[in-house]
Amino acid sequence: MERLAVSKIKCGTVIDHINAGKALLVLKILAIRPGCRDRVLIAMNVPSRKMGKKDIVKVENKYICDDELNKIALISPKATINLIENYEVSEKKRVKLPNVVEGIIVCPNKNCITNSREPIKSKFHVEKNGDNVKVVCHYCGKKIYELDKYIV
Ligand code: CTP
Ligand code: ZN
Repeated sequence: MERLAVSKIKCGTVIDHINAGKALLVLKILAIRPGCRDRVLIAMNVPSRKMGKKDIVKVENKYICDDELNKIALISPKATINLIENYEVSEKKRVKLPNVVEGIIVCPNKNCITNSREPIKSKFHVEKNGDNVKVVCHYCGKKIYELDKYIV
């Protein structure tokens, strides 16, 4: 058996099979920021039979909702979600790519209305682009292929 990279948790949400090196982006997507009080365990670049290397994020005492978790598919389509209750996996599911994403992505177009003083939240349409995804700004049509840089 592989050595456990981070200890098991009693209850909460485990996001497993995150693409290697993307754990910090997962934290951004889930709005886990400096000052957050939840206990969060993070492992990066741990060996995985299926993926070679992977990242893992465990958020204790929180059951994160599907809408929030599905945004992880933007950067890690193979991520698995495990809900943990009393040390057991009570539910296991895959992330599902959303059609539309609001917030979390900033439009690279400086003239986009979402970058003006107007209080307008960013909104992107998600399209599959082979194995990758591309997002298109709802307001200005700007396409983003390399999402990592624009997730805030
Ligand atoms: N896990 C945890 N705390 C627990 C139970 C499980 O942190 N009390 C974590 C495991 O470390 C693993 C994930 O939840 O990262 C899924 O657990 P499990 O289904 O037992 O592992 P696998 O069979 O390896 O999962 P998969 O088939 O999805 O690869
Ligand atoms: Zn735009």
